[in-house]
Amino acid sequence: MEMIIARLCFAGILFIWVLSVGAEKVSDHEMPCEYPAIFNFGDSNSDTGAISAAFYPRPPPNGVTFFHTPSGRVCDGRLVIDFIAKYLGLPNLSPYLDSFGTNFRHGANFATGGATIRRANDSLFVSGISPFPLDIQTVQYSNFRNRTTKLYSQDKKSSIRKNFPRPEEFSKSLFVIDIGQNDLAAGFRNMTNEKLQSAIPEMMNLFATDVQFLCQQGARTFWIHNTGPIGCLPSTLFDIHNPVPGFLDDNGCIKSQNDMAKEFNRQLKETVDKLRTELPLAAITYVDMFAAKYSLISNAKKQGFFENLDICCGSYKNGVRFYCGNNLLKNGTQFFVDPCKDPSRHISWDGIHYTEAANRWIAKQIINGYFSDTKIPITQACYRL
Ligand SMILES: *[C@@H]1O[C@H](CO)[C@@H](O)[C@H](O)[C@H]1NC(C)=O
Ligand SMILES: *[C@@H]1O[C@H](CO)[C@@H](O)[C@H](O)[C@H]1NC(C)=O
Ligand SMILES: *[C@@H]1O[C@H](CO)[C@@H](O)[C@H](O)[C@H]1NC(C)=O
Ligand SMILES: *[C@@H]1O[C@H](CO)[C@@H](O)[C@H](O)[C@H]1NC(C)=O
Repeated sequence: MEMIIARLCFAGILFIWVLSVGAEKVSDHEMPCEYPAIFNFGDSNSDTGAISAAFYPRPPPNGVTFFHTPSGRVCDGRLVIDFIAKYLGLPNLSPYLDSFGTNFRHGANFATGGATIRRANDSLFVSGISPFPLDIQTVQYSNFRNRTTKLYSQDKKSSIRKNFPRPEEFSKSLFVIDIGQNDLAAGFRNMTNEKLQSAIPEMMNLFATDVQFLCQQGARTFWIHNTGPIGCLPSTLFDIHNPVPGFLDDNGCIKSQNDMAKEFNRQLKETVDKLRTELPLAAITYVDMFAAKYSLISNAKKQGFFENLDICCGSYKNGVRFYCGNNLLKNGTQFFVDPCKDPSRHISWDGIHYTEAANRWIAKQIINGYFSDTKIPITQACYRL
């Protein structure tokens, strides 16, 4: 990190720096990619309003920092995907499932909070698992693309066309995937660690099939986030009392859970390597989200945050957990669980999701390619003919 920052200072302007980071693989005179649209797949880490549209709206104080009203995100403000879109000069992504005021001109978001890779034998109403797992999200994308293409070929004058990408833009778009956390979380709830670990190869097969399907449906540039340090989520840590020595790591995170996430990521990396040879028509970047998030958690204070495992919204008092956004009845009056005074100094928003400030920090690190498999910045990661 320090080395990169020194380079930035030395190079003076971002443009030169971006080229120097990408220089390993990309010749200096390659133009930055121009993505006309983003298609995003995943869970609540990148859901910009799907669960809110399909079920109940996310309650306040979500949105308090940036949108000043709940925006469908589980966050006080923007998510990593919002910062990626902003960096690429594109608007925030509308959820595919939202039928109200949506504009898909520059992409669509298929991510839904609680989504998994494997189809779960579970319900949103039982455990918060999304009914739209990754494979269904890719079918929704395919349907979206087919209907857009049809709209363009059949209805040449329709004013509705301005709300959709042009058919030739799909193959130039950025396809972002960030999923896996809920497969692990569901596993920790319902299985032994051995059983969960033995289920990872099945997750990988499904993941690979989904990427191959997207590629068949015109996707060329993939930006794949691995899964974060699930053992550092403060919400899980609430339930840990008097841990045996060695149960937690130096940062206070649950070691066995992070080890599972690392095993998931090791196999995901292998899967991506395999996909690269199977899909010569695609450019696939593997982004080490685990390392980016863990680096923030281990350097919280240095990066201007309070305690790394503090949470901003929600609390745990006298054995009772108050979730962010839940109503409390106090003396016959309804109250929302208040957020902390300064969300920008906290990493965790609600114990599971990151704050806007943390998301901004993480996005900045990954966009420049520092945490990517081949250290290519996002502006050089596109598939080139
Ligand atoms: C759901 O149940 C089926 C049949 O028992 C099983 O094969 C499958 O692995 C289960 N899926 C998950 C995610 O646990
Ligand atoms: C979209 O069209 C392609 C090509 O005809 C087809 O393979 C795919 O199944 C269609 N998608 C959906 C969701 O119907
Ligand atoms: C998984 O565990 C949760 C919580 O313990 C339970 O409510 C749910 O029914 C379980 N799901 C399955 C598929 O066993
Ligand atoms: C709430 O009710 C309790 C007991 O009835 C009372 O002692 C307390 O002062 C009340 N608090 C407020 C803020 O009104």
